[in-house]
Amino acid sequence: MLRLGVNVDHVATLRQARYRGLHTAKFAEPDPLAFALAAQKVGAHGITAHLREDRRHMQESDILALRRKVEIPLNLEMAATPEMVAFAKKIRPPHVCLVPEKREELTTEGGLDVISDLQRISQITAELQKIRARVSLFIDPDPKQVESAAIAGADVVELHTGTYAHAKTKSQRTHEIRRLIEAAFKAHQLGLEVHAGHGLNYENLLGILIVPGLNEVNIGHSIISRALSVGAERAVRDMLHIVKKYRLSSRS
Ligand code: PXP
Repeated sequence: MLRLGVNVDHVATLRQARYRGLHTAKFAEPDPLAFALAAQKVGAHGITAHLREDRRHMQESDILALRRKVEIPLNLEMAATPEMVAFAKKIRPPHVCLVPEKREELTTEGGLDVISDLQRISQITAELQKIRARVSLFIDPDPKQVESAAIAGADVVELHTGTYAHAKTKSQRTHEIRRLIEAAFKAHQLGLEVHAGHGLNYENLLGILIVPGLNEVNIGHSIISRALSVGAERAVRDMLHIVKKYRLSSRS
């Protein structure tokens, strides 16, 4: 089964646009927790939220509220820093996805550069696993990054679909799908679970449903955008409808 993780960051982006510094006030809207509860109600499999170092969207109080009040698993996206590890130890999320935030942590395409930063990422992965978090590394669909993720001890790789999502021509899209397939194969060979995310929407999600052995997609912007016109429940249901088309291979 393919799972849908709903990323609620941009609900907070909208709230912060008006209520920066006032996010805990009763009138501060929209509320990421309310969005997450609506997603849960209609069958989303998980909620993802990224506590960025600059706190541009989610705040610590948002993550705490999600952790306390949402029953489906919380996937905390975070930078691989001591500050964020300390926060994760406080809230003990069942899933953590390490993502790059600074220029030097990025590969050219935007995933975490595990190859260059192997020692630090390995240490942080091990620390997070001590609090029983399943650790995912957000990487480009590059077999060499996948190999390094396995060496780092990760449980999961989340394949960055941004280059696929932004491809302008059919041949670029086909090329990107091939890269995703190759990376997913490599991850399976190495015993890693495979997630995918970034830039996926109601149209382009279908195109990657041929990648074998996908376990989860994490989608935010597109669902939240659709929710503005049809409401959160309908927007999540529509995405689940596409996700359920994934029938598949040996590892699903
Ligand atoms: N996965 C990861 C690791 C992310 O950082 C994000 C947010 O950029 C997403 C998935 C969701 O991306 P989007 O909002 O484009 O759906």
